[in-house]
Amino acid sequence: MKPFFVIGTRPEIIKTAPVIREFEDKRGIRCFLLHTGQHYSETMSNAFFEDMDLRAPDMNLNIGSGSHSEQTAKALIGIEKALLKEKPDIVLVQGDTNAVLSAAIAAVKLHIPVGHIEAGLRSYDQRMPEEHNRRLTDHASKFLFAPTERSAEILRGENVWGEIFVTGNTVIDALEMRLPAAMKAPLPPIAEKLGEFVLLTLHRAENVDDKATLQGLIRGLGEIGVDIVFPAHPRTVARLKRFGMTKMVEETGKIHIIEPVGYLSFLRMMKECMFVLTDSGGIQEEVTSPSINKRVFVLRTSTERPEAVESGHAMVVGVDPTKFPTMIKREIERGLDADRPCPYGRGDASKRIADILTERLP
Ligand code: UD1
Ligand code: UDP
Repeated sequence: MKPFFVIGTRPEIIKTAPVIREFEDKRGIRCFLLHTGQHYSETMSNAFFEDMDLRAPDMNLNIGSGSHSEQTAKALIGIEKALLKEKPDIVLVQGDTNAVLSAAIAAVKLHIPVGHIEAGLRSYDQRMPEEHNRRLTDHASKFLFAPTERSAEILRGENVWGEIFVTGNTVIDALEMRLPAAMKAPLPPIAEKLGEFVLLTLHRAENVDDKATLQGLIRGLGEIGVDIVFPAHPRTVARLKRFGMTKMVEETGKIHIIEPVGYLSFLRMMKECMFVLTDSGGIQEEVTSPSINKRVFVLRTSTERPEAVESGHAMVVGVDPTKFPTMIKREIERGLDADRPCPYGRGDASKRIADILTERLP
């Protein structure tokens, strides 16, 4: 059996690592690992192979940054060439990035089955490039690994062609696998100095590419009245510079921007923080792990992770600065600690995926 994995960005490295290790380390099945190179900065790519204890990719297409079509097309051509050479039994992708869509298209055109890890998520927000990527990939896939029964139900409702399996989310596997090492990792100096802090990430295109929305978010975040440590995605740093907003962030006196941190430091911060503010997808899932169990306020108008809302971890607070600071302050007053169930599985999603594929493929 020859699995062919395609990854392109930070979260794909994290969430795919436990699946690759399940094949290679536990079953002795060598995988081909192609990195499209969509993420390429040391702090967005290499650092994660180290932190996930994952071997280097077999190939890097170095596609870099660009428009959606540029990234998708460059990756499509490179992946096709690699597939023709490697002749794998299956192409495995995770999530909803441009790398995922490119790999799915390249594979189905060559009649190679696609397995989609984290299938069936829907935000129903058509502004999001990820919503198109995940929908198209789900409909091109032969194996759909839905993290929850709810996402499986969405796929059934859309009459996808492939077979649906509920597996849990591999993010829980990754987190449980690396948390012991994370607890020995240093906290970034500013987090150490503050002692009590809130963790923020912000990078969604619909939030940071629009000046008025980004201004509103910074203003509102400054009004919550808590110290916020913000490992900022390069996209957000670039937009803050382009919109001349770096000073505005400093003037809040509350938002402390740092470079993106590796996975181990990030997990440690997630474990130690008061609560999380984010527009990330993966972070909404990670906070639900029983080892973390934190509240997360989702700075978006929708979420494709409603399970985390139902479990009591997440609250979608929107991006309106006249509303979200008050909503968050009210929740802080009510108290943030509670027992909550994890909706994303028990940390065995990777094993289930590998079991299903080894049973069904030659
Ligand atoms: C991509 C994914 C998004 C995912 C995110 C994970 C798509 C459509 N978007 O968004 O779903 O949540 O990755 O973090 O696939 N940049 C660097 N160094 C890097 C990478 C990016 O400086 O290593 C900067 C460049 O200015 C680039 C910008 O960030 O133009 C955006 O990068 P890009 O990969 O296009 O999208 P992300 O916002 O990272
Ligand atoms: N993350 C990290 N360092 C950071 C910010 C995020 O290790 O500075 C991790 C985080 O733990 C999660 C993943 O990156 O596993 C989320 O990636 P991102 O928010 O970029 O993408 P999304 O999940 O929204 O697609």
